[in-house]
Amino acid sequence: MAKTYTLPPLPYKYSDLQPHISEKIMTLHHDKHHQAYVTGANTALDKLEKARKGEIQIDVRAVLRDYSFNVDGHILHSIFWPNMAPPGKGGGSPGGKIGDAIARDFGGFDKFKAQFSDAAKTVEGSGWALLLFDAETSQLVLTQVEKQNFMHLAQMKILLGLDVWEHAYYLDYMNDRAKYVEAWWNVVNWSDVDARLSNA
Ligand SMILES: [Fe+2]
Repeated sequence: MAKTYTLPPLPYKYSDLQPHISEKIMTLHHDKHHQAYVTGANTALDKLEKARKGEIQIDVRAVLRDYSFNVDGHILHSIFWPNMAPPGKGGGSPGGKIGDAIARDFGGFDKFKAQFSDAAKTVEGSGWALLLFDAETSQLVLTQVEKQNFMHLAQMKILLGLDVWEHAYYLDYMNDRAKYVEAWWNVVNWSDVDARLSNA
């Protein structure tokens, strides 16, 4: 049996964020919604494992989409809970490294707060506003996420990627993506993949 995801407990009581967020919201959000993501991610992993063993037939696209949606919900909520603290402990303006970085990259906390709030208020439909650190440019950046698929890319190490945009194969294989995928296995650099895993 593969390893499974588990629901982390809240680092405070369900009622501790009142009056800003009610006990009712926190209970439903954590016990029902986050739990559903954990269960959904485990169910998807289980289906993939059973399919590998030949026990069931699956629609790979649908199951991988389910996995992405649910594991990303799990990851984001696992960050969201400790990102908050009861009033008095939470709130105010940040000090430390994060305070310095926000001052450097956003020109001050008030400007950051305004931009982050704008990002959150204008997400189209369901989603998230996120503050990220970009290691390539060594700076803080904001991003909006619609729904929540694919954010695990920010958390998990990419070891091996295959570009299946048409520009990657059309001139050679026309519309035969399957033929390109078959051929591609002849050029995979496993020592690069191995090095990425060692550095993960
Ligand atoms: Fe949520």
